[in-house]
Amino acid sequence: MVAGSQAGSGHRSPRYTSVAIALHWAIALAIIGMIALGWFMGDLPDSDPRKQDLYQLHKSVGITILVLTLARIAWRVMNPPPALPTGMAGWEQKLSHGVHVGFYALMILMPLSGWLYVSTAHEFDVATVLFGMLSWPDIPFVGFLANETGHAVVEFIHSKLAWAAIILLAMHVGGALKHDILDEEGVLKRMIPGLFGRTGPPASPARGFIPAFGGALGVFAIVACAPMLTSGGGSGAAVNSAAPLDGANWEVVPDESEIVFSGTHEGNPFEGRFENWSASIAFDPARLDESEVSVEVRTGSAVTGTKLYDDTLRQGEWFAVSDFPVARVSLGEFRETEAGYSATASVTIKEATQTVPLEFTLDIEEGRARMEGGTVLLRDSLDLGQQSDPDANWVSDKIEVDVRVEAVRAGGD
Ligand code: HEM
Repeated sequence: MVAGSQAGSGHRSPRYTSVAIALHWAIALAIIGMIALGWFMGDLPDSDPRKQDLYQLHKSVGITILVLTLARIAWRVMNPPPALPTGMAGWEQKLSHGVHVGFYALMILMPLSGWLYVSTAHEFDVATVLFGMLSWPDIPFVGFLANETGHAVVEFIHSKLAWAAIILLAMHVGGALKHDILDEEGVLKRMIPGLFGRTGPPASPARGFIPAFGGALGVFAIVACAPMLTSGGGSGAAVNSAAPLDGANWEVVPDESEIVFSGTHEGNPFEGRFENWSASIAFDPARLDESEVSVEVRTGSAVTGTKLYDDTLRQGEWFAVSDFPVARVSLGEFRETEAGYSATASVTIKEATQTVPLEFTLDIEEGRARMEGGTVLLRDSLDLGQQSDPDANWVSDKIEVDVRVEAVRAGGD
């Protein structure tokens, strides 16, 4: 199987292509760093403010390794590596081949098992956002593993693969050093040209850059875009699906109106708003008993300015947007108060309803009304984030909601 007469024959042993060398060292360093990071981040207490960012970094680099590995395999198929040194015994060749196959399997299985681990989260359901910029979907059709046992098995595999990597690495480095130093075959200089001696150029000119990297990027793009094709996106164009109540007599002016929510995350304040909602308003200060307002809020349109929060809010234990795209609020029992008005707001998110008082001020001038009010909702009562953070260690239980609405009088009064 071993062809070639490089070592000691007067020809310089050909080295790997520059692309293969770059991929080898980039992936090797990344894997070593990822093992250290995986252990480090796993040991941090939940209260450590760095923990979430490190998990996101780990996931981002892991997916990058997976994509680079696809490119690397395609590159290797198109640019076969230089032949093994001639001096190697049969068993050494077999072992070396086995270690290399093991490494390729590991470069795929390590990130895949990590991705499977986060895709089968049944308690701690945090979204994956690559490098803070790109939403990365979960692996589809693995719901059958999203339970305590399935998730634990996947975690076991991901964690033990780290030890497989360390064993392979020890064999790999040991073999490379033996054949470079003891046996004077100079295998290292083929992967580190210039540092360990001179090599010949790669056996044949490098080819296939575009198919290898384009193909890997193509797979990456398809996976990243898949959720958009299947769910039709979270936010999008304004909806006006709330059926107008009989007698609805005000129309919301969207540009002058907003629903804002705020709370704290790890002690730091956050604020977001819903970009997509509609309201049907039948309100008359002279006939408060008959007044009623119903609001439909597209939960997928929540934006906070932080992609990780936005993506996490869409997940199952929060808004579960794909199953419950709309939250509903109905206001009734209007009363006049010293400061303005009060109403009873019944808020339904997913299948949980919370009834809270809403205090607001109202100015009506020449067919234009401006209301401003607010209330406090409890995550606990609305079953939001109750699996990962039931005790509000991270996200405050109290979420303040502030509403500002400007409306014009419609013809129906
Ligand atoms: C070559 C790539 C990767 C390497 C070398 C690697 C390595 C590791 C290691 C050593 C651990 C610690 C395991 C333990 O505690 O015993 C870990 C944990 C973890 N990895 Fe990876 N990983 C890789 C890719 C990924 C990817 C792609 C994801 C997700 C998209 C991921 C998600 C996780 C998570 C969530 C944990 C924490 C598990 C826990 O909290 O118990 N990993 N990883």
